[in-house]
Amino acid sequence: MAKRSKKILIGNWKMNPETLSGAKEIVRSVRASAKLSTKVTTVICPPFPYLSSIAQGGNSIKIGAQNVFFENRGAFTGEVSPSMLITLGVSYVIIGHSERRRLGETDDVIAKKALASAQYGLKVVLCIGETTRDENGDYLRAIEAQLSGSLAKFSKKHVSNLIVAYEPVWAIGAEKAMDEREVHETTIFIRKILSNLYGRNEAAAIPILYGGSVAPDNASDIVKKGEVNGLLVGRESLNPKNFGMIMKGLNSI
Ligand code: PGA
Repeated sequence: MAKRSKKILIGNWKMNPETLSGAKEIVRSVRASAKLSTKVTTVICPPFPYLSSIAQGGNSIKIGAQNVFFENRGAFTGEVSPSMLITLGVSYVIIGHSERRRLGETDDVIAKKALASAQYGLKVVLCIGETTRDENGDYLRAIEAQLSGSLAKFSKKHVSNLIVAYEPVWAIGAEKAMDEREVHETTIFIRKILSNLYGRNEAAAIPILYGGSVAPDNASDIVKKGEVNGLLVGRESLNPKNFGMIMKGLNSI
């Protein structure tokens, strides 16, 4: 594992909760936990309309967006640019989540978004992961193709802004997370591809996170035995008590 003292814990709220007051309530509790977990960088990614309000309230947590556009201004109805996010106090952005890929987002679009975000100084949380696991290793080729396609425009110069979130699609919203041993094996493979793209030392410094059905009872083991630098959490990030437990677990590793 890359030597890095702080673990990264990202909460992806997806299209939840339904109200701003609900969002504020969750974040109040997350901030309280984060103040006690100084060895963890906690990032909350709420839906766009809540970003501004959630970003106000100190720097015990970082704020991330769940998407961004690759142009910075202009006639792009409905899109949000990297600079707009930055003016709100956003410093991270999730790019290429499987739920967006399922809506038609291609590696090419993801590559443009990743580049534009890094150019404006956002930390890019690039999501990759196979849809299914097969016996003959096709999933490894799928991961490799996705990673190199999504990073096609991302130069070595911006690598310090890159975080890779490995999320096997079949483990997202599932009953069980991936086995820690498999997490470890796959992240070694991912780091090897990153090393081919950017060089060994650069690749060693890129945080690799795991995501997919992370819960308080598996979080610490996934990080320790899976040797990842942190976690991307969906459902449990909306439950402040459980998210706080996950955070506490990472803080004591
Ligand atoms: P989950 O979602 O933790 O609910 O499985 C993870 C994700 O989609 O990032």
